Amino acid sequence: MKPKVLITRAIPENGIELLREHFEVEVWEHEHEIPREVLLEKVKDVDALVTMLSEKIDREVFDAAPRLRIVANYAVGYDNIDIEEATKRGIYVTNTPDVLTDATADLAWALLLAAARHVVKGDKFVRSGEWKRRGIAWHPKMFLGYDVYGKTIGIVGFGRIGQAIAKRAKGFGMRILYTARSRKPEAEKELGAEFKPLEELLRESDFVVLAVPLTKETYHMINEERLRLMKPTAVLVNVARGKVVDTKALIRALKEGWIAAAGLDVFEEEPYYDEELFALDNVVLTPHIGSATFGAREGMAELVAKNLIAFKNGEVPPTLVNR
Ligand code: DGY
Repeated sequence: MKPKVLITRAIPENGIELLREHFEVEVWEHEHEIPREVLLEKVKDVDALVTMLSEKIDREVFDAAPRLRIVANYAVGYDNIDIEEATKRGIYVTNTPDVLTDATADLAWALLLAAARHVVKGDKFVRSGEWKRRGIAWHPKMFLGYDVYGKTIGIVGFGRIGQAIAKRAKGFGMRILYTARSRKPEAEKELGAEFKPLEELLRESDFVVLAVPLTKETYHMINEERLRLMKPTAVLVNVARGKVVDTKALIRALKEGWIAAAGLDVFEEEPYYDEELFALDNVVLTPHIGSATFGAREGMAELVAKNLIAFKNGEVPPTLVNR
């Protein structure tokens, strides 16, 4: 008899097909998240779970799933899973690194450029007819933005995604600063990146990009005190997790001009709604789509399947989180 896996959302078919050869597969096909009580019911007889970052996988889920041996998160971040509890129970947890690195770094850059150069504001100005109404074809001071080329970028978190953001910054002739738990001598050499303590990085950077995982240490790491260290012309970009930034403080920073602009792909609560933030025209917002490319999502589906198949074959899953 094949072991049973529950996939809590319709991930790309390539991953599901691979899994069907080895597992009895059930997919929660609905667009909306699986309701908590349904999840708790369905996990009763599963050996494996494929989860999304929007599902909290904790003690309650583990208690309801006596046969569960592996959780494959369809994301590189795994702050939605109680890793300590899983490890205690001998449940493997895997994630999807590498395959989404470039897609996420690209989106960080899309937000950075859009926020620096008024791309969204400009789009609204044109399509709303406001440009035509004003009747000014071109003006030397219209929609002035911030220079990117040759400026300083500070990257908070210098793992795969942070380094991929830095690679792109190199092409923009930027001075690259980074902060991380430990120094990365190879990346420093390859990218010409300089290690800086967070406070210094914030003071010196024209663009600050957050690429750290959410942990107890990084929760509200960017708070009022730290936002006040940034340049009034600086742009903050967050492609990590919403809770890394204290949103209330960020709104004040954007309103009162402690910083110039922000680009946010992630929010403290998702889906997010906040009229005070949405009223600001110096912030560009996207709905947690860092890895949302066809290629990255297929790569994630394949990696999820590879992890589960390795586990089923008695091998160590390739991207095991809790070794
Ligand atoms: C991740 O993988 O952690 C991203 O935030 C979602 O793509």
